[in-house]
Amino acid sequence: MAERIGSQVGGQRSEAQSAALYARARQWIPDGVSRATLLRRPNPIYVDHGEGAWVTDVDGNRYLDCNNNFTSLIMGHADPAIAQAVSAQMERGSAFALACDIEIELASLLCARVESFELIRFCNSGTEAVMGALKAARAFTGRPNVIKVEGAYHGTYDHAEASLASDPTNWGDAAAPATVPFASGTPDSVIEEVGIIHFNDAAGARAAIERQGDRLAAVLLDVMPSQVGLPVIEPEFIAAVREATREVGALLVLDEVISFRLGYSGAQTLLGIDPDITAVAKIIGGGFPVGGVAGREGPMSTFARVGGARAKVPSGGTFTANPITMAAGYATMKQLDHAAFARLDDMGEAVRNGLRSAISKTGVDWQVTGRGSLFKVHPHTRHIRNYRDAHLSSDEAAELEQFEHAMQAGGVYLSGGGFGCLSLATTDDDIAHLLAAATAALPS
Ligand SMILES: Cc1ncc(COP(=O)(O)O)c(C=O)c1O
Repeated sequence: MAERIGSQVGGQRSEAQSAALYARARQWIPDGVSRATLLRRPNPIYVDHGEGAWVTDVDGNRYLDCNNNFTSLIMGHADPAIAQAVSAQMERGSAFALACDIEIELASLLCARVESFELIRFCNSGTEAVMGALKAARAFTGRPNVIKVEGAYHGTYDHAEASLASDPTNWGDAAAPATVPFASGTPDSVIEEVGIIHFNDAAGARAAIERQGDRLAAVLLDVMPSQVGLPVIEPEFIAAVREATREVGALLVLDEVISFRLGYSGAQTLLGIDPDITAVAKIIGGGFPVGGVAGREGPMSTFARVGGARAKVPSGGTFTANPITMAAGYATMKQLDHAAFARLDDMGEAVRNGLRSAISKTGVDWQVTGRGSLFKVHPHTRHIRNYRDAHLSSDEAAELEQFEHAMQAGGVYLSGGGFGCLSLATTDDDIAHLLAAATAALPS
C-alpha cells in the first residue's frame, strides 16, 4: 500500500502548501482556523479533496481518514447516493422559510428505528441538540440543575462543557469531583447548577442525584465518552442513574451524538437503556451540519405550542431542517441497514485486535479501547473506568502525540487523543494499511 501514502518531494513528505495557507489564515482568523480541534503542530493540514475512505491534502499527501469529520461521515467522502440526493435537492433550492417534506421523511425514519424516539425536532449541531435537550428537561421538570460526567464532551453549551478538561490541579477529591468551568468567563451560576459524577461510579451517581433531589432537571450521559477514554459502560452504573433519576423525578438525557453510529437503533437499544430525551447529530446529517432532539412525548412537547401560546422551549434557526441536510441525512440513513452496522462492527474489531497485536509484538505498555467502528489508543495500561484513569501525564500525552504524527507521516489521519473511527467506505486493504502504519508508528 506504500504507493498510496503521501506525495513525496525528493522522497520527503511536504507540508509546504499547508504551512503557507496557515500563515495566511492567521492574519484573519484567531489561531488560523475556526475549529480548535484542527490545530496540529506545526500547522493544520489543508485538504484538497476526499474520496471514499481517503483524503488528499493541498500538498498531494494522501491519508486514510480515520477521523471522518469527527465521526460524522459514516459513508466516507463524496458518497454517490448522498451526492445524488444533494444535487437533486440543490436544483430545487437549498433553503426556504417554508416547510419541506423531506424533514418528515427523516423524522419518521429515525422515530421508526428507536423505541424512545416518539418525537424529534431538528437543529444544526450536536451542541445545539444537547442544549435543546437540557432546556426541554428544565422546562418539563421546572428545575434548574444538571449532572454530567467528569471529562465528557457534549459540545460547547455552557452547562454541558463544565469539567470537560479537569486536571489533577483542579478536579477535587475523588469522593467529591469539582465542577470546573471550561471557558474563561463562565458565570458562577452555571457552575452552581452543574453537578459532576465519575463515569461508572454507580454509588457516587446515586448519591449525587439524591443530593440534588427536587432541584435536578436531568443527568446528561454519553454511554461511550471519547474524552473519558471510550470505556465500557458498566450495567450497574447505567441502572443506578436510570433508577435514581426516576426516583427524584429528573430526566435521563442521553448524548448519542457519536454513539448513534454504534448500531441500527443507536447505542441505547444495544445497551437496553430507556432515556427520556436523546441528543443526536453527526451521521444523521449525511455529512452536513445537523442535530436532533428526540424522545418521549412528554418532554418533547415542551417544543410545541399549546393552544396557540408560545412553546415552553421555543426553538428554530435559519438553517434548521434545511432540505439539503435532510436529503443527505435521509440518503445516508437509508443505506445504514443491519448489514452495514455488522460490517462496521467487523472492521472495528479487526482494527482493535490488529492494534492490540501490534502493541504486544512491539512490547510497549499501551492498550486499545472502543466498540463498533470506534477505537482509541492509550499510551498506558491502567484499567480505564473513568476520566481520571484515562487522563494522561504530560509524558504520556507527548508520546501519544508522537504516535499520531508518525501515523500521519505513514498516511493515516486520526483524531487527537489517539481516537479513530471507520466509515463504510473502508476496505480490508485500508485496514491492512492502518495496521502497518501503526506497527511502524508505535514506540519500540
Ligand atoms: C458526544 C458529543 N456530544 C456533542 C458534540 C457536539 O456536536 P457538534 O460538534 O455537532 O456541535 C460532540 C462533538 O464531537 C460529541 O462528540
